[in-house]
Amino acid sequence: MHVWPDTLAGLHAAASVLRAGGLVAFPTETVYGLGANAWNESAVRRVFEAKGRPADNPLIVHVAGTRHLEGVVQDVATLPQTVRRAMEVFWPGPLTLLLPAHPRLAPSTHPMLPTVGVRMPNHPVALALLEQANCPVAAPSANKSGRPSPTLATDVVEDLGEAIAGVIDGGPSSIGVESTVVAIGIDHATIYRPGGVSAQQLEDALSVPVSLDAHLLDPTSAPRAPGMKYRHYAPSAEVMVFMGDTAAVEDTIVRVASDPAASPAAIIAPEQVRGVMRGSVLDWWPEPGENYTVALSRELYRLLRAFDRAGAKRILIAGVDPLARDAHPLALAVMNRLEKAASGRVVRV
Ligand code: TXA
Ligand code: MG
Repeated sequence: MHVWPDTLAGLHAAASVLRAGGLVAFPTETVYGLGANAWNESAVRRVFEAKGRPADNPLIVHVAGTRHLEGVVQDVATLPQTVRRAMEVFWPGPLTLLLPAHPRLAPSTHPMLPTVGVRMPNHPVALALLEQANCPVAAPSANKSGRPSPTLATDVVEDLGEAIAGVIDGGPSSIGVESTVVAIGIDHATIYRPGGVSAQQLEDALSVPVSLDAHLLDPTSAPRAPGMKYRHYAPSAEVMVFMGDTAAVEDTIVRVASDPAASPAAIIAPEQVRGVMRGSVLDWWPEPGENYTVALSRELYRLLRAFDRAGAKRILIAGVDPLARDAHPLALAVMNRLEKAASGRVVRV
């Protein structure tokens, strides 16, 4: 596969592959996407094949602006004011809107669903590619299904290798977790996947109540966003997440990391965890002064992959509390991905 630079020549090469019905991975501010022309059913089907993605899991269609909604969204002129306002405030950005699907779209972009997820990414390379391709681009995250999403071009190469024509290398994704998926009505909105735009930010902008899909509050209930039901974002190592006050979390992590049976262990925490540890330990903590939630959001998928490659048997992570009074807007998205990576192994200490 090609690794194209994020130059005009690279963009031209990638856009012509898209126009011809091929698959191209590209950077966005959330994660790298694996793109296909959203009007071309056979191209879209190849996205599912390349990822090993279950056929019932809909894709997100990317557009370069609201003027490109024609042929993507049905009855654009009659979209409610709340939806228009969300586009004005949060696009380009990490917000995917569920909107009535246009019949021109490849059916596999929204299998068995009347709505399609639509997003305008906030990344100059993605926007330039969309402009040049001159078509809407269906793009799930560019990972093998079940693996952590890619935040670097090399992650895409690692997962998809020869299955796709190429990837544009736009450097690391700045947000690092996928977009918020939301359905917005005239007097209410429901979040199906938490991401870079929080419920509070939506409420403030739209002046309507915003609720979380029941599945996000009770993971045993059936999710409405089909993608949320699959095991996700999971490395090969056993991931454990610890919640509680900082000192207690640190003590527990030191204890669990010292278990020789789980060596080498890897640690992700707000600050360097010190303690007596046997065996080798891999670790990561944010730069001084950087917010842990923001840094973890950006680095989580990269770290899961890196610690896997380094042969970590266990990855021990200090969680973030989305209900804390000083919680960052990204906290719910980060905790949601941590729970998935840990397959529910979240321990209160
Ligand atoms: O940040 C992102 O959203 C990235 C970048 C590449 O834009 N894309 C991404 O795509 O995360 P993907 O396919 O990995 O996740 C799409 C999510 C899935 O959970 C899917 O089930 C949900 O959006 N989704 C898409 N269309 C839907 C629909 N019509 N109804 C309900 N859920 C939908
Ligand atoms: Mg994905």
